[in-house]
Amino acid sequence: MTYQAAILETPIIEIRRATLADRPALEEMKERSISTLLDPLMTPEQRTEMRRITPFDPALIEDGTYYVATVNGWIAASGGWSRRAALFSPNGRGTGDAPMLDPETDAAGIRAMYTNPDFARKGLGSLVLSTALAAARLAGFQRAQLLATVAGERLYRAAGWRSDEQVMVGSGDGAVVPGYRMSRDIR
Ligand SMILES: CC(C)(COP(=O)(O)OP(=O)(O)OC[C@H]1O[C@@H](n2cnc3c(N)ncnc32)[C@H](O)[C@@H]1OP(=O)(O)O)[C@@H](O)C(=O)NCCC(=O)NCCS
Repeated sequence: MTYQAAILETPIIEIRRATLADRPALEEMKERSISTLLDPLMTPEQRTEMRRITPFDPALIEDGTYYVATVNGWIAASGGWSRRAALFSPNGRGTGDAPMLDPETDAAGIRAMYTNPDFARKGLGSLVLSTALAAARLAGFQRAQLLATVAGERLYRAAGWRSDEQVMVGSGDGAVVPGYRMSRDIR
């Protein structure tokens, strides 16, 4: 039995708020997640554009709305919610300048969900998603929305989200990437 298999016999799963110190590990996991779980569903041009419009976004961590799920201390999945009016980064620069949403009238955004491919289909994406939704709900939001990739749509549909429309998104300077606008009540 390998060391990794041995420690996974008694996994300890924890959810915590991400910090800027996690950035190197998060960026590495994001790239592994996209290249393994999403790239096969897109053309080479769409893969390039996808990376351009989903840069690592420190605003999510600075706002305190981004989480990591760890397994025996290793980051295995990440994701969060946002109180800012931006579901992705069309200009490739993150969303720190986007205006704040009003929980009374606006839907909270779900953002930047990634699972380490070694831990895919183990329920960790779902765990992070429900954590983010619970936090948005505690912050007073009554609806949530997101822009799903073709990989993410499968997770959200399984979690009861409805697809409002299929869209093609991009920076305007490259290929367009297929996505789904999805939303749900969180009251
Ligand atoms: C989307 C993503 C975060 C899902 O993470 P995950 O940890 O594997 O998700 P879960 O294990 O919680 O999946 C829960 C359910 O969602 C559905 N689902 C998730 N991934 C699926 C897939 N590749 N194919 C079909 N159904 C899938 C299944 O119903 C699954 O339940 P099951 O495994 O019991 O059948 C992961 O695939 C990923 O990182 N993709 C690349 C990056 C990306 O596109 N992120 C989404 C941004 S919007």
